[in-house]
Amino acid sequence: MSAPILALRGVNKSFGPIDVLHDITLEVRAGEVLCLLGDNGAGKSTLIKIMSGVHQPSSGTIEMDGTATTIPTPRAASDKGIATVHQFGGTFPLMSIGRSFFVGVEMTKGWGPFKIYDRKRANDIAVKAVRDFGITRIEDGDRLVGGLSGGERQSLAIARAVHFGARVLILDEPTAALGVKQATHVLRIVNEAKRRGLAVIFITHQVMHAMAVGDHFAVLIRGAVAADFKKGEKTREEITDLMAGGASMASLEAEIETYMNSHGGHPPPPAA
Ligand SMILES: Nc1ncnc2c1ncn2[C@@H]1O[C@H](COP(=O)(O)OP(=O)(O)OP(=O)(O)O)[C@@H](O)[C@H]1O
Ligand SMILES: [Mg+2]
Repeated sequence: MSAPILALRGVNKSFGPIDVLHDITLEVRAGEVLCLLGDNGAGKSTLIKIMSGVHQPSSGTIEMDGTATTIPTPRAASDKGIATVHQFGGTFPLMSIGRSFFVGVEMTKGWGPFKIYDRKRANDIAVKAVRDFGITRIEDGDRLVGGLSGGERQSLAIARAVHFGARVLILDEPTAALGVKQATHVLRIVNEAKRRGLAVIFITHQVMHAMAVGDHFAVLIRGAVAADFKKGEKTREEITDLMAGGASMASLEAEIETYMNSHGGHPPPPAA
């Protein structure tokens, strides 16, 4: 098997006296989706901030292509081909699709002092990149990003990362605020990014979303990797329980369902 594109080995992170991550070892490979699961405050965002140059590990090493490296800044991460897409960050509601696609890398025509932003060309490239990912409802690069749906915005951000040569795509809860249809769209795009050979790190609280795209799963509990397994090695119930820190969420779900089935679809009253 080839070396992982990105690996963390024995990474710890503390903020002053607060230990947030303990001895994290994780690998992501080309053409593979790693789902990072865990409850609120488990350390998922902190972990991906270490991979995207926002935070530095307190100890431990980061490897790229089998070689130890550092990621001192977000700029360094993007130079190394690590793209991070946040739920709401990264897009600019009052910018057009074409403009936002080329933020920081503006397309120009002409030369020297006559360089101007080439709106038409930027729009054509942006719209094509998004449509290549199957978002065919987007036809006009002059449309404002703020007018896109949440799923379309996520798709635009992912298409942009892939277009500019990302090798590692980090998605922090991209489907959290989306309806079923939009989430499905984003999941399809994650699969497409994987098919194109990117390594994808996908954070979600939704086990079904994780199972739809994940090849590999890591569950964080209070800053440590509590479980690390491959697709097919655990059931949905087992994963749900792990995410709830071992509490039997699945049996709770089953209890509620049994109650509802025998009470005409009404959920149980809240516990007194
Ligand atoms: N800059 C910081 N200084 C001190 N503590 C921090 C800092 N950043 C994060 N933490 C703490 O680290 C822990 C993990 O936070 P993190 O945001 O990584 O969790 P998460 O798994 O992403 O949670 P969620 O699912 O709610 O997004 C939390 O207890 C948080 O308060
Ligand atoms: Mg988080």
